[in-house]
Amino acid sequence: MELRATAAPADLDGATLIIGVMEGLEPATGSEDEFEAIERNTLEAAGFEGKRGQTVTLPHESARAVLLVGLGDEASFESLRAASGNAIRAVKSDRAVTLLAQVDLEESTRAVVEGTLLGGYQFRAYKTSDDAHDADTVDIVGGDQDELAGAILACEATILARDWVNTPAKDKSPETLARLIDDATEGSGISTEIWDRERVEEEKLGALLGVAAGSDRDPRVVILEYRPDGARKHIALVGKGIIFDTGGLSLKTATFMEEMKDDMSGAAVVAAATIGIARLGIQVDVTAIAPLTDNAVGGDATRPGDVLRPVDGPTIEVLNTDAEGRLILADGLGLAKRYEPDLTIDVATLTGAAAVALGKQIAAVFGSDSEVAAAVLEAASRAGEEFWQLPIFKGYRKSIDSNVADIKNISGGRFGGAIVAALFLAEYAGDGRWAHLDIAGPARSEETSGEFVKGASGVGVRTLIELARAMAEAD
Ligand code: BES
Ligand code: MN
Ligand code: ZN
Repeated sequence: MELRATAAPADLDGATLIIGVMEGLEPATGSEDEFEAIERNTLEAAGFEGKRGQTVTLPHESARAVLLVGLGDEASFESLRAASGNAIRAVKSDRAVTLLAQVDLEESTRAVVEGTLLGGYQFRAYKTSDDAHDADTVDIVGGDQDELAGAILACEATILARDWVNTPAKDKSPETLARLIDDATEGSGISTEIWDRERVEEEKLGALLGVAAGSDRDPRVVILEYRPDGARKHIALVGKGIIFDTGGLSLKTATFMEEMKDDMSGAAVVAAATIGIARLGIQVDVTAIAPLTDNAVGGDATRPGDVLRPVDGPTIEVLNTDAEGRLILADGLGLAKRYEPDLTIDVATLTGAAAVALGKQIAAVFGSDSEVAAAVLEAASRAGEEFWQLPIFKGYRKSIDSNVADIKNISGGRFGGAIVAALFLAEYAGDGRWAHLDIAGPARSEETSGEFVKGASGVGVRTLIELARAMAEAD
């Protein structure tokens, strides 16, 4: 889809004209002639009241159609973005002309771009029919050119992550996904290193190897390095890349396994964010580390009671092979420490408990100190992504003491699972500034609404980009 900023709606021929409407049937973008010309009883008959999520398409003499989209009772960045997403999915013509960016709001262009590109996203690689509802061009009337360009890059990064996550696990083996990620860096100035099994063994990533032991597909570690001129800060990103999480010998039930191709969302998010940061030319050094492996069942799979030795930090007694994300992150965080970054962030679909605590639309953030967590929350709020802070409560730390090794990978209890996992990771993150993002809830959207489309969400990509921007600007 091509988005363009245009001055006036020059020619509407064959296009769909998108107009935002507030609840109570006031146009959101000033007094539009096209809107004024519509009979109120036509809208009444269609049941359109300007509520959030409502759309109605009406015939029009100079355009193919006028599409009214509800913003609800307030014009905000969020309602504008949601309306843009709801509108684009209702467009049936090849071209749309949207008046939504004319709403009097900061960054209205970005809101419209995000809603349009993310809400109009479709994953059709495995569909044989060609019934895509694509508008191929969208003219954003009154759009700001620079804001448009920046927003497009951030959305393209989000879409990269969505595409990787939506891809079936069969078609994204560690080897293949590493290749896909490397391909996507082309021309961005990022240098890529891919470690194969032999290198992973040489480097002694014993926790990653322990998780990979049950799979016929060899693990990989992807390392992306972005080193722009003029960078004064270095951010390390570590992403959980479980290609498919069966649970291992601590096997999941069928229902819990259904969506486990999403379990490499953390890896997808850190890789895509790094590519976004590079393409936006943000002046901060970035190192992204993504350990990639299946968590499968096999004759030599890690057994409950086995002990793993990560590259750095405490030895681990594995009591539940389904708590595998923290194992590969232990090695990922161990590698990140070598770079002595100013800030380390890990991103993972780590615990069902995080989704139980915050639901499917909010990600959890844990910080090594309250300033780090505040920086992530601030970035998330600028990005328009939902995060909430949870504590790394030391009182629960002794629950992961092990009889046999230094530490065990589960507490044994049902409660506070997201916090216990964060305490485990803290053992490997070192003494530096570190945040852990548990995206187990929002990595996948259950519904199509606003900028979300059922399936992978790409949540985290734009927060990391905003965080990098803040780091580049800080002194
Ligand atoms: N990948 C899962 C977490 C998950 C669950 C992500 C649901 C998305 C949706 C993770 O590897 C896992 O299995 N965690 C266990 C940990 C437990 C064994 C301590 C969990 O949350 O049940
Ligand atoms: Mn698991
Ligand atoms: Zn997992």
